[in-house]
Amino acid sequence: MSTASMHIPPMDRIETRATHALNIRYPIVQGGLARIAKAELAAAVSNAGGMGQIAVAGLSDPDVLRAEIRKAKRLTQAPFGVNFPIGHLKIDALLDLTIEEGVTAVSFTGGNPQPYIRRLEGTDTRVMVLVSGPEQAQKAEQAGAHVVATVGYEGGGHIGRSDLTTIVAIPLVVRAVGIPVLAGGGIADGAGLAAALALGADGVEIGTRFIAVKEAFAHDNYKDAVVRANASDTVVVKRSLGTPGRALANAWTERILSAEAEGQSREAIFEMVKADANERGVFGGDMESSLVWVGQAAAMVDDVPSAGEYVERMVAEAKAAGKRLARLLG
Ligand SMILES: Cc1cc2nc3c(=O)[nH]c(=O)nc-3n(C[C@H](O)[C@H](O)[C@H](O)COP(=O)(O)O)c2cc1C
Repeated sequence: MSTASMHIPPMDRIETRATHALNIRYPIVQGGLARIAKAELAAAVSNAGGMGQIAVAGLSDPDVLRAEIRKAKRLTQAPFGVNFPIGHLKIDALLDLTIEEGVTAVSFTGGNPQPYIRRLEGTDTRVMVLVSGPEQAQKAEQAGAHVVATVGYEGGGHIGRSDLTTIVAIPLVVRAVGIPVLAGGGIADGAGLAAALALGADGVEIGTRFIAVKEAFAHDNYKDAVVRANASDTVVVKRSLGTPGRALANAWTERILSAEAEGQSREAIFEMVKADANERGVFGGDMESSLVWVGQAAAMVDDVPSAGEYVERMVAEAKAAGKRLARLLG
């Protein structure tokens, strides 16, 4: 049989402006997950049709980052991204090597992305910027972002200072910008994806759910903690530093919150939220004396599938939710 006469089923897709901008099949982006998102996770998400990302936080040695990017390229032919936190690290050299390696997309969080976006001018690299509300989204668009990801108050990790919930942030950000919008914060299943699309978003950015997948570089105790967590098992710390973040409630976050309530110095608080506090949980599996980021969506997580199984499940659930809506709304 000639190739021309063979029936090749078209690859399943959910097409949005975000999938076109990022050249992916499903509008599902794995958020940067500090120390957790390495080549294996990024490649697994991308192989499943979403966009995986390698997180630079924890991989700040240029040789290590380059090796991780090359590993991801060996594991997938599909587009993937690299996530850059602005502020703590010197990222110029890391960004340059990421461009050199021809990575499809980069994302920025935690500061003014403008100088870095300038550095990317003249390249094909797609730029995503994390925001927590419409004003920041407009600034990101003006700075040259191709996609914004808005992260609501429910989300795990740093959530910005707007305290907008996802259901309010999505329509506000969609109205504020002309570029594709990803919605993040509290989304962990396909109904959440369908809801985000219904609110006008072009896709989702998922963080917490991707801690509890096989390819995530996180201690099993951390994955178990996400599976076991209830909706009230997270707290927001670091407000006193101006960088609020949602974490698993434990003995360590209680200490941080007490210190913040007592008005202890910034230095004293910094001591408690340094990388080693995170590493004790992510690498060491200590779930009590560590600062580990977890969002409210953990309450919806019941198992530890592979990233591919999860993406497939999410797509099926989103389609089922779409059918239900069509039935209800005509
Ligand atoms: C464990 C963890 C680590 C995170 N680290 C980063 C990071 O390094 N860079 C980043 O842009 N966002 C980071 N985030 C935020 C996620 O990328 C994503 O925007 C957010 O988790 C979405 O909300 P959700 O947790 O409800 O899915 C992190 C989130 C979690 C849960």
